[in-house]
Amino acid sequence: MLTKILSFFLTIISFISFNPLSNYDYYDKLGDEDYEGFKDVYAEYFDIGAAVGGWHCRSEKISEYILKNYSSLTAENAFKQAVLNPAEGVWNFTEADTIADFCRQNGLKLRGHCLVWGYLGSWMTRDSEGNLVSKDVLLQRMHDYINVVVTRYKDIVRVWDVVNEPFGYDKRDGAFKQNDFLTICGEEYITKAFEFAHEADPTAVLCLNETTVLKNQKKQNYLLKYIEKWVNEGVPVHAVGIQSHWNLFVLNESPRRLQKVIDKLYKIGVDIQITECDMRIDAIPSDIFDEVPRNTELLQSKKMSQMFEVLRKNADKISSVTFWGISDNRPQKTEDGETYYRHELLFDRDYMPKNAYYAVCDF
Ligand code: G3I
Repeated sequence: MLTKILSFFLTIISFISFNPLSNYDYYDKLGDEDYEGFKDVYAEYFDIGAAVGGWHCRSEKISEYILKNYSSLTAENAFKQAVLNPAEGVWNFTEADTIADFCRQNGLKLRGHCLVWGYLGSWMTRDSEGNLVSKDVLLQRMHDYINVVVTRYKDIVRVWDVVNEPFGYDKRDGAFKQNDFLTICGEEYITKAFEFAHEADPTAVLCLNETTVLKNQKKQNYLLKYIEKWVNEGVPVHAVGIQSHWNLFVLNESPRRLQKVIDKLYKIGVDIQITECDMRIDAIPSDIFDEVPRNTELLQSKKMSQMFEVLRKNADKISSVTFWGISDNRPQKTEDGETYYRHELLFDRDYMPKNAYYAVCDF
């Protein structure tokens, strides 16, 4: 309901502005099988990527769709430690290998996501009795893990999200989000992870991947401060991933703020990557739509189009834009176990371009 009310007000504002929603109406194009592939529209700007699972690569129909639209892939979960190495001595490369082989066979790039993510927890930080291990033990385990994984995919993964979401944002946190890695090693769990990855593959681009960078100013300040510090200290941080899980109604997630953070990161001297792009249309999570109201869909098209205008303007500073999923076919479950969809991407559940796709590609 709140989504409908806010959509109504934004539609009115848009109607009386110089840039009405009708400028973003591409309904006459919907259903056209003969559209131009996303990666080709953006070929002169940056790679267009998407997060996948192994099953996408095994399906003939979906593979065809992927090859038409994307020049780069990220594994949504298959390269996470919880999947690759869930317990000491236990390795499971099947899904990751499927995605890596698909990229090798089809000439796609592959972003590695992610080597260290403290939030998810890990067997590495605890001994068999559940006590925290020493700093030496943890750093040795991290070193060995990073070495195995980075070496295995050296030929195909040229960019790694080395550390995922380390920065703090609420009252409980300082500069860094609390987790076992931080408790044991302090800030060094981050810098050492970069050193270990660099040692395993000195030619890979090493990225720090962070969420809610536009929305959360406190987190953004920490990010900028520490990236600058580490770059000056010679830590091999080469890129910052701005995840970009945006929401239509979050005003801080605006083209202006996107431009500002790009300028600040560029000044520090790191490459910028948009690593997990999508745009939810629910003002509150309980607003669930089977059919998205047309004005809400046009609002999503307008905001996405404006964000992409900024990205194109800064193409010399941005090497890739990756979406968190290949289409809206990402079923979620309510607490009651009902299936619903978030409508957050540019292709619909049948892998066809949405109105927002045409808005982003019309320039
Ligand atoms: O595959 C297992 C299944 O076998 C098991 O029965 C089931 C029981 O819970 O879990 C399934 O695994 C889940 C997996 O997604 C696949 O669906 C995990 O529990 C669940 O934790 C995992 O969630 C992923 C989450 O990261 C945590 O790894 C999401 O799919 C993935 O989209 C999300 O991605 C993150 C990025 O890595 C970092 N930035 C935020 C982004 C979105 O939240």
